[in-house]
Amino acid sequence: MPRSTLPKSDTKMLKKFMAAVLSAILLVGVLFTTPGLAANLENGKQVFAATCSGCHANGGNIVRRNKTLKLKALEQNGYATVAAIAQIALNGKNNMPGYKTKLTAAQIEDVSAYVLDQAKKGWK
Ligand code: HEC
Repeated sequence: MPRSTLPKSDTKMLKKFMAAVLSAILLVGVLFTTPGLAANLENGKQVFAATCSGCHANGGNIVRRNKTLKLKALEQNGYATVAAIAQIALNGKNNMPGYKTKLTAAQIEDVSAYVLDQAKKGWK
């Protein structure tokens, strides 16, 4: 009496499949628990200092004085989400340049999260 009713090749396939499923689960676990892969405010701060602070020092706006990065202005102008900030940082608007060729997707994400975080803290 054979131990398994599956032919040998099927058992092999099943083992391969289980190994693939297991490594996929492991990978997902690593991705979601590694802090470096979430939006990084410390990195966002550095990107902001290097790229945005020329016009937006302390959350202001030296070019268009009513388009600041203060929470009230962001809310009024529809930029009070990380996604909306990332969108303007990528594509620019009027006198603001876009940064899609100068910054990586991760840098855009980090700087956008930093801007919203600072806006909520009043840029202090
Ligand atoms: C050369 C100057 C300049 C630089 C550098 C700059 N901005 Fe701007 N930014 C502007 C101007 C001008 C506006 C107003 C655009 C408009 O609505 O006409 C603006 C608007 C914004 C707004 C919307 C604010 C509001 O209240 O409507 C956000 C968010 C923003 N910038 C984020 C950034 C980020 C993040 C960076 C760096 C990656 C950056 N900006 C770099 C000039 C600049």
